[in-house]
Amino acid sequence: MVGGARLAGEVRVDGAKNSVLKLMAAALLAEGRTTLREVPHILDVEIMGELLRRLGCEVEHNERERILVIDVPSKPSHQADYDLVRKMRASICVLGPLVARCGEADIALPGGDAIGSRGLDMHVAGLERLGASVAVEHGFLIATAPHGLTGTQIRLDFPSVGATENLLMASVLATGSTVIDNAAREPEIGDLCRMLVGMGALIDGIGSSTLEIEGVEALRPVDHTVVADRIVAGTWAVGAVMTQGDVIVRNAVASHLDIALDKLTSAGASVEVLDDGFRVVMNQRPTAVDIVTLPFPGFPTDLQPQFIALNAIADGSALVTENLFEARFRFVSELQRLGADVRIDGHHAMVRGRAELSGAPVEATDVRAGAGLVLAGLVADGVTTVTEVHHVDRGYAHFVENLQVLGADIRRVG
Ligand code: UD1
Repeated sequence: MVGGARLAGEVRVDGAKNSVLKLMAAALLAEGRTTLREVPHILDVEIMGELLRRLGCEVEHNERERILVIDVPSKPSHQADYDLVRKMRASICVLGPLVARCGEADIALPGGDAIGSRGLDMHVAGLERLGASVAVEHGFLIATAPHGLTGTQIRLDFPSVGATENLLMASVLATGSTVIDNAAREPEIGDLCRMLVGMGALIDGIGSSTLEIEGVEALRPVDHTVVADRIVAGTWAVGAVMTQGDVIVRNAVASHLDIALDKLTSAGASVEVLDDGFRVVMNQRPTAVDIVTLPFPGFPTDLQPQFIALNAIADGSALVTENLFEARFRFVSELQRLGADVRIDGHHAMVRGRAELSGAPVEATDVRAGAGLVLAGLVADGVTTVTEVHHVDRGYAHFVENLQVLGADIRRVG
């Protein structure tokens, strides 16, 4: 890409990657055809589709209509192999539904994004409290509950998104009631709760940090629309600010991005909330803004690289603190190749804004880092080439095409 263009125009956001993958797993909880709408055309959806097929489901994805239909057999198989799980750590979200539905799940231990050591201890401890036996054998996590799961009290050490989701999906079919305390409150979890309720699950406290689940005997398939992707929406917003542009983001939920949009206002942008999204207008060089990542409703770690890119060209200095994934700063060495002035000390990054970055070849190290590097390339002088863009394809549908529509000088090569 050649830097310098101003992003202007309209872009529409699809359903959230971090929701749809869990909703696809949740479909396993009921026999029959579940329909998901607003499903994004991204690599991770294909990987999850392949995983569900291996479990015995039929999966049809109409990419143009953004509709995904999953037909779940009466007896799904229960093994998720390493070749798929290593491609996508989120595969672990079939653990809860499979134990609940089949009484057993054998999941290869995951790889996925290179963004820090992400433990599964809370997933395992929660399943054990629900009565499952869990062991690790030959690289597989094996969870068994031949006589079903039993409702219980679970208090998470930390509001982990993945653990909350797995335990929620496990407990909807357990006998009796389960309380998950210190549950994560991300909008994607609210979305999963709403889908489960549509399937017949009984869940109280949706959107809060205490979820109360009354187990039911069986669930039914559902037709559900995936919540909008707040991280993609936020990425467009940051792009508008960095390029001093004017972008309307449609089909987005501004209230899911409160802190991030407030930060953009502090950086000097004007943000207007619309019925179906928001508009971001910027007419000056942004002012640097401090960031501290935290579980929702705190600032999302998935927008941290994009905000480091913004700070790299801002007026002033900013301190960015990463509290969720220690290795999320790895991409900074790539950003430095574009001339960014960033110093890392543990989980803090001090960014001193520069008037200009200069184009260079850089490598995407994970999906959000890739997005951050593309945004940086859009404002760098000359040509920037981002390699390993398959990471970006994992989370951003038609990213290059959308950027072109907004006026960026960018193309995909190879
Ligand atoms: C999800 C999102 C990811 C986002 C993250 C935080 C998906 C597919 N991914 O990841 O994009 O950045 O939420 O919003 O939805 N942890 C443990 N033990 C556990 C579970 C987690 O120590 O049992 C730690 C992890 O190592 C990490 C932190 O908790 O440091 C947050 O992890 P978690 O909230 O579980 O994130 P994910 O579900 O993996």
